[in-house]
Amino acid sequence: MSQSAIKVENLNYRYPDGTEALTDVSLEIGKGEKVAIVGPNGAGKTTFLLNLNGVLENDRGRVEIFGKDVEGLERSEIIQHLGIVFQDPDDQLFMPTIFDDVAFAPMNMGLDGEKVKKRVEEALSTVGLSGHEEVPPQNLSYGEKKKASIAVALSIKPEILIFDEPTSELDPKSRSELIGKIKELNEKEEITTLTATHDVNAVPEIADRVYVLNKRVIAEGTPREVFTNENLLEENSLDTPDVFKLFKVLNCFGLDSGNLPLSIDEAIKELTEKIETGSGHMHLHVHEHTHEDIEKLRKRYEHHT
Ligand SMILES: Nc1ncnc2c1ncn2[C@@H]1O[C@H](COP(=O)(O)OP(=O)(O)OP(=O)(O)O)[C@@H](O)[C@H]1O
Ligand SMILES: [Mg+2]
Repeated sequence: MSQSAIKVENLNYRYPDGTEALTDVSLEIGKGEKVAIVGPNGAGKTTFLLNLNGVLENDRGRVEIFGKDVEGLERSEIIQHLGIVFQDPDDQLFMPTIFDDVAFAPMNMGLDGEKVKKRVEEALSTVGLSGHEEVPPQNLSYGEKKKASIAVALSIKPEILIFDEPTSELDPKSRSELIGKIKELNEKEEITTLTATHDVNAVPEIADRVYVLNKRVIAEGTPREVFTNENLLEENSLDTPDVFKLFKVLNCFGLDSGNLPLSIDEAIKELTEKIETGSGHMHLHVHEHTHEDIEKLRKRYEHHT
């Protein structure tokens, strides 16, 4: 691994009411990596992310950002290293207008008026909210608030960007634009990205590495390692990308795929190769077990009998 961006050792977190949210979580994310955290509702994903920037303080354990213990860092320092887009945008927007909210951190960083304005313009344009500068946050729709809260984090230009359920409530076009943006921030601007999400279809695009969290770190691996481990998915109420399911169905019709695709891009590659090596054709057929195998898949994927 290159330089460590986030290093967590034996993190435990218990809420004041006694709820044990995290037990002995240890993980490390290298500078420039793109990583996802998946896990069922209540698994502790949000709790974990809030421990990274010191919003929540752990009872035991250690969190390091670029080799420095967060406990010893000033808030202003943490913010420049690590920006979080909260799961609930209402936790991020508290100023009279969207402009003020997005300008808040750059202003506190001591940037001059012109630079602040430029940062705000850029961030709002990235999320498609240009022209909403003077709107009070409470007048935005929920999806628009999500976008505004993403702009708040973008305006800081931190070295690490953390997204907590960024795609929930976004319309399909906004969702895919955001996925593209996360990829671009990571690949072009070398920002380390960490995303907690239930959006399994997005995971292969926004992560090279995935942690399965369920109070503890249950597993770690590439999207392929995680999404092809059926027991792991079942035990942690996780799902697999739709494209993967479709290819499982095609397998029942005799498609002989080596690595089942996890994304549209992988599917196009796989089909193109298959057809090219099949002298311009792909052969599917119904065989003895096709219907039986499909029934089994339906039961597994539709979660009902
Ligand atoms: N303020 C709080 N006080 C007490 N318990 C809490 C508090 N916030 C969260 N919890 C509990 O901590 C556990 C972890 O919650 P957390 O929000 O971190 O889960 P999550 O993985 O982010 O879930 P989701 O997928 O629904 O966003 C849950 O059991 C939850 O009920
Ligand atoms: Mg959460």
